[in-house]
Amino acid sequence: MKRIGILGLGKYLPEKVLTNAELEKMVDTSDEWILTRTGIKERRIAGQGQAASDLATKAARQALKEAGLKPTEVDMIIVATITGDMQFPATACFVQANLGAKNAFCFDISAACAGFIYGLVTAQQFITQGECNYALVIGSEVLSTVTDWQDRSTCVLFGDGAGAVVLGEVKSGGILSSYLGCDGTKTGLLNLPGGGSRNPTSQKTVEQRMHYIKMQGNELFKIAVMSMAEAAQIALKRAGLKCADVQWIIPHQANLRIIDAVAKRLGFVNAKVYVNIERYGNMSSASTAIALVEAVQEGLVKKGDIVLLDAFGAGLVWGAVIMEW
Ligand code: UT7
Repeated sequence: MKRIGILGLGKYLPEKVLTNAELEKMVDTSDEWILTRTGIKERRIAGQGQAASDLATKAARQALKEAGLKPTEVDMIIVATITGDMQFPATACFVQANLGAKNAFCFDISAACAGFIYGLVTAQQFITQGECNYALVIGSEVLSTVTDWQDRSTCVLFGDGAGAVVLGEVKSGGILSSYLGCDGTKTGLLNLPGGGSRNPTSQKTVEQRMHYIKMQGNELFKIAVMSMAEAAQIALKRAGLKCADVQWIIPHQANLRIIDAVAKRLGFVNAKVYVNIERYGNMSSASTAIALVEAVQEGLVKKGDIVLLDAFGAGLVWGAVIMEW
């Protein structure tokens, strides 16, 4: 059985920082409310005209450099995104052109905040089956373009960014197990209703602000905790491991209280939890990717460590990956 692991990592965060203090001037909110309810202090906002593929390309270049690969050696590019450059073609196609990765086949994954994990598991299958040797998996979002800046219940939560990894065969460690889940009966809790074939863009959809994220945060909260805990437990079982074997939990960064509740529910004793939500907010698919990149680049994750990636998002979808570093 081939072992598939990460050969290189990269990230890109737009320069512009939007603080809670600035949001206080835009909507009826407070730094105190945002910080205590979510853990967020600031988030990054992409520049005018900066699309998901632009962020993804910068993160991918870093990951390729670290892996020591030329763009032409990449066989597959997966971009996990819900804020792609266009409805079609896939954002991964724009990334391919930007990189000059002309030998790669490319597609996007729409699994919201669990997109990076769905992407990792998908790429792993292609490499295991021998369909390709090297895959780029990127989580990239420009959520600021679909955020309703008049809606205080959502606009304080989101940010922009991209994280990328190169996956390939490794001699030791790599992905040990995974689990992906979905409950399609709850699509109404978090979505962007306008602009698709259900509600094609019209004056009415724009007037009704249907081109922005709609979220019932409170209802999602409990499901997020339960789903992320369940995903972790199943993935651990599949790997033949226990909570006590895990050194690092790298969770999706939607809410610090969700992260704390998941860790508590699982009863992690030895594991440390990587958190960067205070700097970036919720970047959907990019959150787990960037958290992994930063945990590794900061030298926190050491060779041989067992790492749990765990995420939950619109769909509803959720998933976990266990890796040995
Ligand atoms: O990314 C994956 C999917 N997303 C999630 O998993 C998100 C899960 N949900 C959450 O993280 C939390 O539910 C939120 C952070 C979104 C909201 O926190 P909450 O503690 O669940 O607050 P709430 O929605 O129950 O609202 C409590 C109060 C309400 O006022 P009343 O009705 O009690 O008077 C809201 O109107 O807080 C009010 N509120 C705000 N106040 C100040 C909502 N947003 C704000 C705000 N500033 N930005």
